[in-house]
Amino acid sequence: MKGIILAGGKATRLHPVTKSVCKQMLPVYDKPMIYYPLSALLLAGIKEILIISTPQDTPRFRHLLGTGSQLGVSFSYAAQKEPKGIAESFLIGEKFIGKDSVCLVLGDNIFYGDNLLGLLQDAAGIDSGAVVFGYYVKNPQRYGVIAFDRRHKVVSIDEKPAKPKSNYAVCGIYFYDNEVLKIVKKIRPSPRGELEITDVNNAYLKKGKLNVKLLSRGYAWLDAGTPDTLIDASIFIKTVEDRQGLKIGCIEEVAYKMGLIKKDNLKKIASGMVSGYGAYLSKVCADE
Ligand code: DAU
Repeated sequence: MKGIILAGGKATRLHPVTKSVCKQMLPVYDKPMIYYPLSALLLAGIKEILIISTPQDTPRFRHLLGTGSQLGVSFSYAAQKEPKGIAESFLIGEKFIGKDSVCLVLGDNIFYGDNLLGLLQDAAGIDSGAVVFGYYVKNPQRYGVIAFDRRHKVVSIDEKPAKPKSNYAVCGIYFYDNEVLKIVKKIRPSPRGELEITDVNNAYLKKGKLNVKLLSRGYAWLDAGTPDTLIDASIFIKTVEDRQGLKIGCIEEVAYKMGLIKKDNLKKIASGMVSGYGAYLSKVCADE
């Protein structure tokens, strides 16, 4: 399975902060925002990852993340000229995806909880169809919302409905078989001019091939697209990290624990960073 991180857009809800800085580069506590969705892809066992951002920010991501070899994986980069919709990722990434299945994660989504690895690896193991996740939220009208029938069967997904039919929002991580390339070519831009990921999900649903997994309340799913949610995410990460002394979304640690890099590689990365982050990586090396 290939992985795509979508890290573009205009981030107008964070202006003026994001007028000259890309949202997904902003810190969520002690690391750039993109580290969190990237760590989710690494936990899912995905080793070939395409990072899509704006034409001006793609070189900055390349500068931050390089070829991926330092993490034992491979990164490619592509630009999205205009934010024409989340589903455009598959058109931009068509060659990269080739004949594989693909996981798309939004660059501002953070996932945390027990057995996340198992959950993501199960989803990454799909042979056919799609897997998406639903999460109970207070303000579903901001999201793609899952509508269920009386038997709790999913009947539709509605994008930002004024009157949501449930409190379950669709999270920003999606697993698809290769059919997604055909499906995305059939969908048309929505009234807001975007190729909607919700239309892709509804196409799978119509075929009876959408597997919706509900995350229990023990998980944390955060997005960090407004000043409030950005600070909330930072406080959440800081609180848990301070309590445990363990980091969340630490891509180098994940790569090491997943067996993608050796201790010597991790030591080298750690010694190149004089920050607390570098000290943490040194501790990870020493602990083993
Ligand atoms: O976070 C989950 C939600 O993400 C889903 O529940 C919704 O169904 C889905 O439409 C999406 O809603 P958002 O309102 O969060 O989408 P937004 O337009 O904010 O885009 C999400 C991220 O993707 C954002 O960080 C910017 C980036 N993006 C977005 C678009 C439309 C791009 O890089 N390019 C784009 O063309």
